Amino acid sequence: MVNFAGTDFRDKSVIVTGGGKGIGRATCLAFANAGAKVLCADLDDPAGADVVAAASGLSGEIVYQHADVSTAAACKGLVDWAVANWGGVDVLINNVGIQPLNSYLPAHELPEEMWDRIINVNLKSGFLMTKYAAPVMTERGGGVIINTASVQGLQSAKGIAPYAASKGGMLSLTRQLALEYAADNIRVLAVNPGTIETPLAAAGTGNDYEKLRQEGAAAHPMGRIGKPEEIASVMLFLASDSASFMTGEFVNVDGGMMAKGAWAE
Ligand SMILES: NC(=O)c1ccc[n+]([C@@H]2O[C@H](COP(=O)([O-])OP(=O)(O)OC[C@H]3O[C@@H](n4cnc5c(N)ncnc54)[C@H](O)[C@@H]3O)[C@@H](O)[C@H]2O)c1
Repeated sequence: MVNFAGTDFRDKSVIVTGGGKGIGRATCLAFANAGAKVLCADLDDPAGADVVAAASGLSGEIVYQHADVSTAAACKGLVDWAVANWGGVDVLINNVGIQPLNSYLPAHELPEEMWDRIINVNLKSGFLMTKYAAPVMTERGGGVIINTASVQGLQSAKGIAPYAASKGGMLSLTRQLALEYAADNIRVLAVNPGTIETPLAAAGTGNDYEKLRQEGAAAHPMGRIGKPEEIASVMLFLASDSASFMTGEFVNVDGGMMAKGAWAE
């Protein structure tokens, strides 16, 4: 559970996509702990119920909604709900992301449907949520949009064409939206996690978290992988007035991974 000195999100309305598990879950709880009203959107209903229960006793609240945020109808529905119930949207966290194990293929072997699914969930959802949330933020005098990209949007690996393209796209979209909405007092930022201890990352080791921690440690100069709360705390900072002059920028939260040159041991 994270809180950040000087951040107070009481009366703020926050939407987190993919908020049921992993980084999204920690982010929902971080904002609720800072007093916010949080709308958690996910496909995994038991996970959504669990994050709602975990927020009991916090100063804010979490409401869960089942939503496939790769569709326009779902994205519009989330924003409409926040407007109807909480009067608007102050913070939008475009966190959702998928990297299915059966997508690790060279481009010529990748089914077109897999490309479309990853791009639609990871990248198009960010566009769609922004499309509906930005006018509402403008009406309210401003807001903050934070996109979860990845270190794989900056540097690549074999077999991840759609994932890398979606994350590179998120970084480019972040810059573009920052320019688009700067005059409306909407700040747009991105976070690039290194390997973080979540169900997504653990899928790669057959859900063996100990193996994930051991195998992931070597890639990070700090000698360990990260925890979801270590991304959530950066989200909280970026969304706060403490970051009031930041927009169009990304932050690597990767234990030093991107600082390491290709020549490094
Ligand atoms: N975990 C890592 O090592 C890591 C590293 C870099 C970037 N990221 C990025 O961080 C973000 C969160 O990743 P995570 O590791 O917490 O993932 P996760 O799989 O643990 O959690 C993602 C959540 O999104 C939900 N989801 C999937 N498709 C959805 C859809 N269409 N609509 C709504 N919800 C949907 C899932 O049900 C799940 O609860 C993603 O964008 C991911 O690409 C993760």
